[in-house]
Amino acid sequence: MKNTTIDIRPVSMSTGAEIHGVDLAEPLHDRAYRDIRNALNEHGVIFFRDQKLTPAQHLAFSERFGEVEFDDTSTLGNPDGYPMIGEVRKEPESTRNIGGNWHSDHSFDPLPPLGAVLLARELPEYGGDTLFASMYAAYDALSDGLKKTLDSLRAVHAKTRAYVGLTPERAISAGEKAQLSQDFATREAVHPVAPRHPESGRKVLFVNPTYTVRFDGWTEKESAPLLDYLFRHAARPEFTYRFQWREGSIAFWDNRSVWHYALNDYHGSRRLMHRICIKGTGFAQ
Ligand code: SIN
Repeated sequence: MKNTTIDIRPVSMSTGAEIHGVDLAEPLHDRAYRDIRNALNEHGVIFFRDQKLTPAQHLAFSERFGEVEFDDTSTLGNPDGYPMIGEVRKEPESTRNIGGNWHSDHSFDPLPPLGAVLLARELPEYGGDTLFASMYAAYDALSDGLKKTLDSLRAVHAKTRAYVGLTPERAISAGEKAQLSQDFATREAVHPVAPRHPESGRKVLFVNPTYTVRFDGWTEKESAPLLDYLFRHAARPEFTYRFQWREGSIAFWDNRSVWHYALNDYHGSRRLMHRICIKGTGFAQ
């Protein structure tokens, strides 16, 4: 029987594991499904290589892990007939990419996604790697004193924060910024800063530089020094892993326990990825 025994190989001390011996085009046996889910909870992001999946097979695999949700990231197109698959696309003439800063997807929503299954369809000759950072490792490495302070805090996440501090090549015009700020003014949510992961039960640091604006009940100015410290701390290289894509590679990240960052270092080339987001269930308190 296919897909009954899988081989899980960690790729760094803090985050990431490659999973071998599984063909995701085939239905997943229950044991393989459980092993993959446990690996995701433990390592934060899991990688598969050389998968030849149709959009329907990509969707079927993702649906094993939860309800798939429509991804309304404004610039995403969809492959024909698959509205639930988002195209993360950068064309040769574009200098902007999607996800080119450390973030957790949709942390400005009341229930951020459980995770996303990203499949490489077309890649530049070089560049376009994705970085991942473990928010388990980031939390664990803090002092007991700071952990105690963070355990009692909540933070405000806003979609519009993403337009502040973009690099010049990803910057948007003042007009676009004003329009987007108006369109997305209500996309805000408040989450615990150091919640327990709902499946592993481990504590994670849940703030990110793209969407976290301030601590709940604090001003932005008061929040900035501690948030800046946490953003720098969490991006320490030893908490990260850099994934180099090949066509047919898949990265499946747990959006509750890792940040990700899509490198924008391949101007003049095309990169096309298919992304499926899986609905989250919120944090255990
Ligand atoms: C994203 O979901 O932020 C994009 C990741 C990538 O394209 O590598």
